[in-house]
Amino acid sequence: MPSLEEELFPSTPGKFKIDRGHTVNRQFHRCFASTSTMFLWALFLVALTASYLSFQSFIDSGSLYFSASWGGIQWEKQVRNSAQIHRSGGMSVLVTGAAGFVGTHVSLALKKRGDGVVGIDNFNNYYDPSLKKARKTISSNHGIFVIEGDINDAKLLARLFDTVAFTHVMHLAAQAGVRYAMENPQSYVQSNIAGLVTLLETCKSANPQPSIVWASSSSVYGLNEKVPFSESDRTDQPASLYAATKKAGEELTHTYNHIYGLSITGLRFFTVYGPWGRPDMAYFSFTRNILQGKPITVYRGKNHVDLARDFTYIDDIVKGCLGSLDTSGKSTGSGGKKRGPAPYRIFNLGNTSPVTVPKLVNILEKHLKMKAKKNIVDMPGNGDVPFTHANISSAQKQFGYKPTTDLQTGLKKFVR
Ligand SMILES: NC(=O)c1ccc[n+]([C@@H]2O[C@H](COP(=O)([O-])OP(=O)(O)OC[C@H]3O[C@@H](n4cnc5c(N)ncnc54)[C@H](O)[C@@H]3O)[C@@H](O)[C@H]2O)c1
Repeated sequence: MPSLEEELFPSTPGKFKIDRGHTVNRQFHRCFASTSTMFLWALFLVALTASYLSFQSFIDSGSLYFSASWGGIQWEKQVRNSAQIHRSGGMSVLVTGAAGFVGTHVSLALKKRGDGVVGIDNFNNYYDPSLKKARKTISSNHGIFVIEGDINDAKLLARLFDTVAFTHVMHLAAQAGVRYAMENPQSYVQSNIAGLVTLLETCKSANPQPSIVWASSSSVYGLNEKVPFSESDRTDQPASLYAATKKAGEELTHTYNHIYGLSITGLRFFTVYGPWGRPDMAYFSFTRNILQGKPITVYRGKNHVDLARDFTYIDDIVKGCLGSLDTSGKSTGSGGKKRGPAPYRIFNLGNTSPVTVPKLVNILEKHLKMKAKKNIVDMPGNGDVPFTHANISSAQKQFGYKPTTDLQTGLKKFVR
C-alpha cells in the first residue's frame, strides 16, 4: 500500500529526498502549487476555446454576410473611379446584385452610355458562383468595380454612400427562384426582406437621398387569374414564399416612400432570359440537358393544360430598367427627414405574348438541331403558377417601354 506521502509525491527514488520535519508544510505548498497550476492551465484552455469559438462564429457570420474585406484609400479610389460620370446629365448608380444575370447586363448598359456604376454582390452559391465571377470579370473589363459584399452589411453601405453621392440605386440583389424557397426559406427572408430594409435605411439617411429602382416580380400576381396582369390587379394571394417576399418588398418600399420621401420604382419582371442567364431557369437547364442527351422534365398544369410564360428577353428588360431610372424623379428627403411627396411607381416589364413550355422546347430543339427526351409530369405544388401574361401599357406610357425581341429570336441568341 503506498503511503499518503507516496500518493502525493509519486515514487521517484533518488529524485525526492523527503524531509520528515517539513513534510506536511511542503506537501501543502506543493499540492497548492500544482492545484493552482492546473487551475491556471484550465483557465487558459477555457479562454483559448472561448476565443476560438467566438472567432469561428465571427468567420461564419462573416462568410454569410460580410465575407470580403473593404475599405482603405485604394478601395475608395476604385469606388470613386467606377462611379465617375462620363456624360452630361448622367447618373451615378449603385447596382446591387451586380454579378447576377440582370445586374451584369444593366451595369454594362449604364456604363456604356456614360453613367457611373458601382456594383455590390455577395456571390452566394445558390447557383455556381464561378458564373458570377465570370460576369464580374466582364464588368471589370469595362471599368465597373463590383464589390464582394452583402446588402445586410450596413457599415459597408454607409461607407459606400460616404465615398460617393449616388444619385440612383438599381436594386437587383435578391434570393431568386420559386422552388428553392421550400428548401431554404430563410435565404429569402435574409436577402429580400432584411437586406432590403438595410438598404432602405441607408438610402433614407443618405444626404442627398438617391432614387431607388428595384426588381419586384410578376410572381406577386400569384393566384390572380385575370389576364393580362395589370399593375392594379390584386396581389394579395402569393403562391410561393419568393412571391410573398417580393410582395413584402413592395409594401416596405411604400413605407419608406411615405415616411422618408424616397423615390421608389418597383419593376415586376416577367421570366427574363438571355445570354449569361441563370442556370436554375428552365430554358437554361433544358438547353444543357438536350445538349448532353439527358431527359428534361416538362411540367403540365391542371387538366393537362400546358404551362405558359411571358418570356422577356434581357435587352428589353435592360431598356425598361434604364427607362425607369431616367424617369424616376427625385427623392425629397434628406438626412432621414421627408420634405415632400416623392414618386412611388410600379410597372410590369414583360413581353405581352405568353408562350407554352412545350413550344419553348420546340424552339430550343430547332436551334440546337437536337431532339429533347421529354418527361412530362403534373406540376407539383411547389409554388409555380400555371401562366403569366403582362399588360405593359403603363410602362409604355411612362417611358416608352416596347419589347422588340420575340422568343424565337431571343433563344437563338441565347443558344449561340
Ligand atoms: N430573372 C428573372 O426571370 C426574374 C423575374 C422576376 C424578378 N427577378 C428579380 O430580378 C432580380 C435579378 O434577378 P436575376 O435573374 O439577375 O438573379 P441572379 O440570382 O442572377 O442575381 C441576383 C444577384 O444578387 C446577389 N445577392 C443575393 N442576395 C444578396 C445579398 N444579400 N447581398 C448582396 N448580393 C446578393 C446574388 O449573388 C446574385 O448574383 C432579382 O431581384 C430577382 O428576384 C428576376
